[in-house]
Formats: sequence, structure tokens, C-alpha cells
Amino acid sequence: MAIAVFASGNGSNFQALVESSRRENWPLPISLLICDRPGAKVLDRARACEVEAICVNPKAFPDKKAYEESVLAHLRQRKIEWIVLAGYMRLIGPTLLQAFPKRIVNIHPSLLPAFPGLNAIEKAFSYPVKVSGVTVHYVDEGIDTGPILAQQPVAIEEGDTLESFERKIHLAEHQLYPRVIQALIDGGKKS
Ligand code: GAR
Repeated sequence: MAIAVFASGNGSNFQALVESSRRENWPLPISLLICDRPGAKVLDRARACEVEAICVNPKAFPDKKAYEESVLAHLRQRKIEWIVLAGYMRLIGPTLLQAFPKRIVNIHPSLLPAFPGLNAIEKAFSYPVKVSGVTVHYVDEGIDTGPILAQQPVAIEEGDTLESFERKIHLAEHQLYPRVIQALIDGGKKS
């Protein structure tokens, strides 16, 4: 039994999750990274921290169902129990949703339901709101719409630039996400 992280890009949340899982000795290891973008930086991070990484390129499949069936086969082979999305910029389809009911979690860089979808940090900053933040939620078929598990506010303060605000958002993500995932898998073990 293990956890798979899905990511598409930089992978700072992937790294924060792996470091926390090892430091805190989680009951389930993060044993797999699934990446949908060849050349993504998260693949280098996985190599550096010795987590198995598989790049499954959706372009190699005729449709989303075939792509997700291939991903699912990798997950099944490795007895993956939880899917943790960390900057995975793709909607999860019915194949994976049905195979992992209430076992797929996502992090989003806003206080949902505000600013769903792409570029949430920029949208909150340029709105401009006084407070945005990060949300951890279960994944359903919508765009950032599943039941909310946890939220952490992040203020936009006098003098903040988009870059400084972005840094604060990522810091909040790196603190909140591992805590929520650890609590979930601890709870899942007992039930
Ligand atoms: C994170 O800010 C995450 O919340 C966001 O992508 C970034 C990935 O950063 N996800 C979404 O916007 C999903 N809708 P990372 O690759 O450094 O972890």
C-alpha cells in the first residue's frame, strides 16, 4: 500500500510531501510520481529523492480513457491506495475517479470557491483581494469543486508584489498539504 503523487511541472509540493513523509515517518510511503509532461522539473526532483517516476504522455494515447487506463495499470501494479495531485494540470476523468473513490486529493492556490482553474495566484493578486490562500480538497469531476478538507488564508499585504505573494502562497502549501495528507492516511488506516 502506498501513495502516488501526480504532477506536471516544478514539483515543489511533491518535494515537500516526500520530505515530510520521511521526516514524520508516514504509515504509507510516497512510492511513485506520475508526470504527464516530458522534461518537467518534477522528474529531476523525483530522481534526486529516489522516488520512482513514470512519465505518461497523454499525446501517446488516442483519448483520455486510454491514457488513464495506462496510468491505472501502473498504480495497480504498485498497490497505490491514494492519489495526491500536486500541480497536476489535467482534469481527472471517470476511469481514475471510479477506481479511487474518495482517494484523490488536490491542492489549489486560492480560497475555493474563489478563483478556480488556471492562474489562481495571479487572478487573486490582480483582482485585487486582501486575503487569498490555499485549499486542499477531494477531487470530483469538476474543476476544483470537490469537498473541502482544509484551507489556510494568506494575506496580500501593503508592498507585496506578485512574486512575494506567490512565495507566501507556496510556503502555505508546503506547510498545509503534508499535514492534511498525513492526517487523512492516518485516519484511513484506522477505518
Ligand atoms: C501549486 O501552486 C498548486 O497549488 C497549483 O500548481 C502549483 C504547482 O506548484 N495547482 C493548481 O493550480 C491546480 N488547479 P509545484 O509544481 O511547485 O508544486
